[in-house]
Amino acid sequence: MVRVTWSAPGKVIICGEHFVVYGGLAVAAAIDKRAYSTVSLRDDRIVRIGSKQIGTAEWLDGKLVKESSKGVGDRLEAYRKMVEALLEKYGRRKGVSVTVDSQIPRASGLGSSAAIAVATAGALLDALEADFTTEDVVNASLVAESELHYRPSGIDPTVSALGGVIRFRRGSKPQRIEPQKAFELLVIESGRPRRTGEMVRKVAQFRELHINLFDKLMEVSDMVAGEVELAIQNNRIERLGSLMTVSHNLLRAIGVSSRELDEIIDRALRAGAYGAKLTGGGGGGAVIAVASEEVTRQLISRHSDRYTFHRVVLPQEGARREKAEGKEGQPG
Ligand code: PMV
Repeated sequence: MVRVTWSAPGKVIICGEHFVVYGGLAVAAAIDKRAYSTVSLRDDRIVRIGSKQIGTAEWLDGKLVKESSKGVGDRLEAYRKMVEALLEKYGRRKGVSVTVDSQIPRASGLGSSAAIAVATAGALLDALEADFTTEDVVNASLVAESELHYRPSGIDPTVSALGGVIRFRRGSKPQRIEPQKAFELLVIESGRPRRTGEMVRKVAQFRELHINLFDKLMEVSDMVAGEVELAIQNNRIERLGSLMTVSHNLLRAIGVSSRELDEIIDRALRAGAYGAKLTGGGGGGAVIAVASEEVTRQLISRHSDRYTFHRVVLPQEGARREKAEGKEGQPG
């Protein structure tokens, strides 16, 4: 039996989220938490998707026929659409089983849904022995992302598929930024779910109300992104931190921060971090900070009863095959 496992990383956006939806420049990076997806080809026509975190559902010819508890089918529907679109495109008339397991905290703006989509698309294309590129994996994942998010820019699946640190602008080829040296980001989960859809809509309203102002803020955000790129390339971590704080203030200006996020950022800055900002959709979710070793330790020891901390060394690898059984030339 053909059974293939892929993994794909979550991500953090270092600057430019929200503006990226309107063509602005963003910088994002893969993190060291990954989603795993195992795809097995079946002899019947059932599409079965199971997630350790959500539950299991089965569809026959696009119709939900089984779910482990009520609502699971709906929650997995975006992935079913992606899987069936790929089966259709590659002319497979039979079903598949997909088993997903993710280490990426959900609803934190750390790209868990995109990583699941990327790992699943990669594993399925691999199991089908399709001739495919990373771009095909990203495009397939966008089918799921468009179901899950309002107006996705495509930054999450792009970064998850490619890995590393990425300069991203909608409609342009993503570019890899090569840091001179590995560097560390501190990810701080606020414990409140982030609200991407709501925040993207809020930004759309802000933009309608203040179109010229929004364009100017986007120009500044693009400038910050250009400088972030240089700071990463040249290992100027203090400079990177201060640019991240500027990016946060731009996001605050367009209304996507929250009291909790501002409070975490304020605490990090008061403790002596070089800089901090919200990451991803906002309204909740996570903050990223850069700080010296001493300040990082201090923040963790003072606040770990309230927030969840992850120390992430960048860059990290993108999507990759973990295991393949039963394919030509493989055991199984
Ligand atoms: O997936 P999230 O919540 O990290 O948000 C993605 C970033 C946004 O710019 C807010 C939306 C997008 O699709 O680019």
